[in-house]
Amino acid sequence: FAKPTKAPVPRASLRALRAHAAQCRACPLWREATATVFGEGPARARAMLIGEQPGDEEDRSGRPFVGPAGRLLDRALADAGLDRKTLYLTNAVKHFKFQRRGKRRMHDRANAHEQEACRIWLAAEWLRLKPRWALALGAMAAQTLFGAAFRLSRERGCWIALDARTRAMASWHPSAILRSPSSVREQRYCELVVDLRRLAQALD
Ligand code: URA
Repeated sequence: FAKPTKAPVPRASLRALRAHAAQCRACPLWREATATVFGEGPARARAMLIGEQPGDEEDRSGRPFVGPAGRLLDRALADAGLDRKTLYLTNAVKHFKFQRRGKRRMHDRANAHEQEACRIWLAAEWLRLKPRWALALGAMAAQTLFGAAFRLSRERGCWIALDARTRAMASWHPSAILRSPSSVREQRYCELVVDLRRLAQALD
């Protein structure tokens, strides 16, 4: 990664890493969250999709990308001819962060410290999977992979060599598409599908 973690990255099976991450107290987000939303998918997956952080439904179910953003991602994956079950889906940050407004829990972006504290888990998943292909969804995931200078608006949709074996690309985050003004929403959705098709071709 562009910004390596300070602590040694744990080497273990995904199951062991998931159990270990559930005990993580490296930042305060575990206090209010229901679940540690670890990545999901086969350990042999050749491609990793990296989102930003879980939302309300992910926190309740403990699974990544099952809420509104996940439903949009599922549609885009289907439109691109990709089978979600063959991919490893995870997030840069593993806990839901929110502010309470009455009964509602409103999404709040993890800060730089929380992102940094969580990086060890993404690094551990990466070490276990050693993916050939990675797709960062949204700016947070893209900057985790490529560094803070990365700009999604400029570099979206381009494969970038991370090392001798892995190529990574960044695309729109499904939540950002849902939040986009209606004038550009469809275009961004199409661009996400185009990028996912590039991944499907790479995996062919
Ligand atoms: N947004 C993300 O970045 N990840 C999820 O798992 C859900 C919504």
